[in-house]
Amino acid sequence: MEPIGILYGDLSPTILNCSISGKINQGDYVKLKHQENGWVLGKVDSIEAKTNLSIEKSYQVMEGNTVDIQQVISAKLVVIGYRDNRGLMQFPRTPFMAGTPVFGADDDFIGSVLNIGRTKRGRAYIGLVYGHNIPFTVDINSMVQKHISVLAKTGGGKSYLTGVIVEELMKNDVNVVILDPHGEYPAMKEKGNNTKDMLRFNVEPRSYSHKIVVFAPEGGDVALRFTLAQISVKELISIMNLSDARTYIMPLRKAVDAVRLTMSEYSFDDIITELKRQEDSSVSQALEKELRYLKSLKIFDKKGLRIDEIVKDGKVSVIEMKGLPPDVQELVVQRLVYSLFEARKKDRTPPLLMVVEEAHNFAPQQGKAFSSKIMRTVASEGRKFGFGLLVVSQRPAKVDKNVLSQCGTQIILKVTNPNDLKAIGNSVEGLTPTSLDEIQRLPIGVALATSPELPIPLFVEVRPRETDDGGKNVRVVR
Ligand SMILES: Nc1ncnc2c1ncn2[C@@H]1O[C@H](COP(=O)(O)OP(=O)(O)OP(=O)(O)O)[C@@H](O)[C@H]1O
Ligand SMILES: [Mg+2]
Repeated sequence: MEPIGILYGDLSPTILNCSISGKINQGDYVKLKHQENGWVLGKVDSIEAKTNLSIEKSYQVMEGNTVDIQQVISAKLVVIGYRDNRGLMQFPRTPFMAGTPVFGADDDFIGSVLNIGRTKRGRAYIGLVYGHNIPFTVDINSMVQKHISVLAKTGGGKSYLTGVIVEELMKNDVNVVILDPHGEYPAMKEKGNNTKDMLRFNVEPRSYSHKIVVFAPEGGDVALRFTLAQISVKELISIMNLSDARTYIMPLRKAVDAVRLTMSEYSFDDIITELKRQEDSSVSQALEKELRYLKSLKIFDKKGLRIDEIVKDGKVSVIEMKGLPPDVQELVVQRLVYSLFEARKKDRTPPLLMVVEEAHNFAPQQGKAFSSKIMRTVASEGRKFGFGLLVVSQRPAKVDKNVLSQCGTQIILKVTNPNDLKAIGNSVEGLTPTSLDEIQRLPIGVALATSPELPIPLFVEVRPRETDDGGKNVRVVR
């Protein structure tokens, strides 16, 4: 085995200078022997050529003169660690020796130190360590207990990757609830296409139609309904399209109170009938119009779904909200998450992971959504009750920091917006400036992953989907 370089200069136990003579690239894994701890895994964090060619001399080159140019290549290595004889990840505590040879690391060694292989049940197979044939898997228990985020710019592959994670959860019979604002996830019932990449990743197209239940206001497997009597007058007013909404609160409250005197469950029609009895016809007409509109959304009715109908049998429940206005979606999410969390606290529903697509809308950093408070509560208390969040967003900077910072596992695809990069830099531990820079240039399908069990963030190539992914780009020009 030929070394690719030699340690030189100032050396700490974790950051090393290495002169490079062999073939090695930024991001490659290396191994080197520590005088006390044996073989240790490291990574080329950055690499640069140091030359003696000054700007003045470069003009001589331009004029065709021969100039003696000397060039050496130096790399910064970060030490990842080694496994001790109990199998625990350790780092050297004394500096490496100058002159130590550094070698390229083979897949077996990388796999044994990172210990993220696919063999065990209870782990989700996300893809391969980028550039290697090493499966990258995440512990499902830890993912559900400590939450997970999937971040990328729009079109960066978040929903595709979320689908990969959901497939793995289905294999392990984990209950999943997907808040699906765009109606992308029902497609997961169908088998995906066979692609040539599948062999390399060892996956095959597969249908999960028996595992997925779609809840939708219309056209799903089960009608998505919430009990109207549980929506307050204030909430109703704020999802209506009324200018000067305040003037309508009193009349609506009066009507709803009157209805409540005679019935515990009621419909929009019951409120409208009561309103018609009221004196001020201009007010009641405007309210009636709005109530009829809300009725047409088919989401609130006399009798809503029971929570135990939504989460059961290790299935995936897709809550399809396509077509509902944003504020109604927020209210739906608030009702659903609140009731699920209460039920979970009393153990009336099994542990679950909830996928929150467009999390910047349901848990915004600035301003308030109906669902802001409950999202924050679940992010901070969910782990005690086995209620995990999978937070998906194209605007990390706009997601509530209290929610994002609670995510133990973070998977980041391509991000270019400077504010979003800053938010990621602030919330992900162990990101070097080089890897933050690399996030801007990631090809589609490659992600940077961090988790409590990983000593440093890893680049991972996402495995192909077994199921159809609903997020196809719309072609404008053919
Ligand atoms: N790992 C992958 N392999 C192959 N194709 C992928 C992969 N990831 C994403 N794609 C494709 O890229 C496109 C965008 O992916 P996706 O819809 O998941 O992005 P997104 O980040 O969810 O976008 P949006 O912000 O619009 O929700 C889709 O056509 C998808 O099929
Ligand atoms: Mg998406």
